Amino acid sequence: MIIPLSQCTLRPWAASDAAALVRHANDREVWRNLRDRFPHPYTPPDADTWLAWVLGQDPSTHWAIEVDGEAGGGIGFELGEDVHARMAEVGYWLGRRFWGRGIATEALRAVTAHAFAMRDIDRVEARVFAWNVASIRVLEKVGYSREACLRRAVYKDGAVTDLLIYGILRA
Ligand SMILES: CC(C)(COP(=O)(O)OP(=O)(O)OC[C@H]1O[C@@H](n2cnc3c(N)ncnc32)[C@H](O)[C@@H]1OP(=O)(O)O)[C@@H](O)C(=O)NCCC(=O)NCCS
Repeated sequence: MIIPLSQCTLRPWAASDAAALVRHANDREVWRNLRDRFPHPYTPPDADTWLAWVLGQDPSTHWAIEVDGEAGGGIGFELGEDVHARMAEVGYWLGRRFWGRGIATEALRAVTAHAFAMRDIDRVEARVFAWNVASIRVLEKVGYSREACLRRAVYKDGAVTDLLIYGILRA
């Protein structure tokens, strides 16, 4: 599904996104705020692995964030399993050159609305490192509430930090 927005377009990933993906994802400042399963350095084989996985998803719950004609980042959600089946966890990242234009905010707002519209879920949550003030601001602008602080739950880039859980419920 293609979701046109004012600053960007959310659209399905394509095999041809590999070069742009490496260009924008291969950034320590992006990696530093994501789980370690997001590789660093981010190499062409890493892009191929991601694209093979995401292109096999049907229906897909992940989108490329297209900005200025290229895949400049990604956003998506994973449905919970077992007793968490009526919730989803959202995640997103954007290439550094596109930061500060309101892109993540409008992308998150759209994907959150889409998740509630298309899936039988009651809740979407996001997990954010306590030092990530930009992402916290994005979540709060979209209407997510801070629900929990898991103290010292994260070891990232050689440092321990708290993990904040933000959530939003079906209106
Ligand atoms: C987090 C991220 C997606 C934000 O993308 P973005 O498109 O720049 O976000 P927006 O422009 O929509 O909003 C950012 C907000 O944070 C604010 N902000 C950014 N850096 C800040 C800082 N150091 N201190 C305080 N506020 C800050 C901006 O001013 C803006 O708020 P405003 O609209 O009230 O001025 C982007 O920085 C990123 O990809 N980071 C690395 C990966 C990541 O953190 N992913 C999320 C994991 S939970």
